[in-house]
Amino acid sequence: MSKPRLQYVCTNCGTALTRWEGKCPSCKQWDTLEEQLVNKQSTTSSKSQLLKTSGNMPVRLDQIKERQHSRIAIPNDGELERVLGGGIVPGAITLIGGQPGIGKSTLMLQVACQLPLKVLYVSGEESAYQIKMRATRITKKTDNCLILCETQLEKILHHVAEQKPDILLIDSIQTIQSIKLDSPAGSVSQIRECTFELQQYAKQSDIPVFIIGHITKDGSLAGPKLLEHIVDVVLQFEGDRNYVYRILRTIKNRFGSTDEIGIYEMESFGLRPVTNPSELLISPGDEHLSGTSIASTIEGVRPLLIETQALVTPLVYGQPQRSATGFDNRRLNMLLAVLEKKCNLYFSQQDVFLNIAGGIKVSDPAIDLSIVSSLISSLHDIPIDKKICLAGEIGLSGEVRAVNRIDQRIHEADRLGFNQIIISKYHKKGIPKDLNIQVKMIGKISELLEILFT
Ligand code: TYD
Ligand code: MG
Repeated sequence: MSKPRLQYVCTNCGTALTRWEGKCPSCKQWDTLEEQLVNKQSTTSSKSQLLKTSGNMPVRLDQIKERQHSRIAIPNDGELERVLGGGIVPGAITLIGGQPGIGKSTLMLQVACQLPLKVLYVSGEESAYQIKMRATRITKKTDNCLILCETQLEKILHHVAEQKPDILLIDSIQTIQSIKLDSPAGSVSQIRECTFELQQYAKQSDIPVFIIGHITKDGSLAGPKLLEHIVDVVLQFEGDRNYVYRILRTIKNRFGSTDEIGIYEMESFGLRPVTNPSELLISPGDEHLSGTSIASTIEGVRPLLIETQALVTPLVYGQPQRSATGFDNRRLNMLLAVLEKKCNLYFSQQDVFLNIAGGIKVSDPAIDLSIVSSLISSLHDIPIDKKICLAGEIGLSGEVRAVNRIDQRIHEADRLGFNQIIISKYHKKGIPKDLNIQVKMIGKISELLEILFT
């Protein structure tokens, strides 16, 4: 029997080296190489086995049969369905990442019980009793879901072959271990090996597989970046544990758009999909407060009206503070510079704090106009009418630029009962007529000042 071999694997990118080095030559990260024992016999035997089979044969593109079966719908969960691009694709492997305690297991168990299919839920983290306790909180219908508490990949695949489920769920990839490798569960090589095996299974059997993965402190999925390349869909479940809202974001999707988000609310009986988020993201009440305004943004295909809040206060320490939550700090600095240069509004002796309500991160540039309005409103302490919303990108010379899908934004604002929407005058088409809402078009920030603050 051959001797087990030692190798050094980078925990960041998965590169394997024969000797230890302080810095990974591939991803240039320091101190990421970990010692691992490779069971040479098993790898060489699996290699010789692979060589014996002829594998797949090349097929002419026009001779490949099209699949008849379509996507699997998810009852009572339009959010996940939309985030996945319109349902579960047969044979797709989906990775769901998120911080511990955010609700990944809850979401998956909920989906497992709702589907009218046979689901195998494999848990390496909790006992069957613990899962039962959670399931009783979430739902009454649990007759279609099988629970398997197991961490060894080969045993899991054996049960899968026996039970032939319609959907396989793995909670979590960091707890699963293959006997082919000697490294501990959660190590880069184990994660890679197990995901690869599961992917092979998904592709051969056409059964969708969902894998839960933990994320590291800096927010990336634990394990090599490679993992994201193996799977078809990567979803990130995020949100502040202290808030009830959770956001399911698409990072990668081979079968749909990647800028889709799903919003959930964590309740005592599980996660509730929020189908009408705009109504939740705008604080109720009629009183007009300075420093807040409403932005009309688009996340994925859905228009979302969000409250932006700014606090501008006289400088406390020598250095002015600029702090933004849910918005890019550099962009905030840029907007402040534009206000100084183009509108003679000076923030250099002010601390500026910015917040997007609901713990949501927004990347839609149309939020600029609302941010600028909140900043000026707080600076002058003049409230903005809560029945006005704004959508427009701001350029470096202070111009208000056109943004995409303006018709959807206007329709949504109208539906929610806003009286006025302020947009760019450069929109040539797509402005809906016959609506109750008044559409004001501006070309420069100085015109915004006239409308809102005079
Ligand atoms: P969990 O799904 O275990 O998180 P993860 O798998 O991502 O680590 O979620 C745990 C949290 O959710 C925990 O703080 C309790 C809370 N929770 C509810 O508020 N309501 C519920 O119905 C359930 C099942 C959990
Ligand atoms: Mg869990």
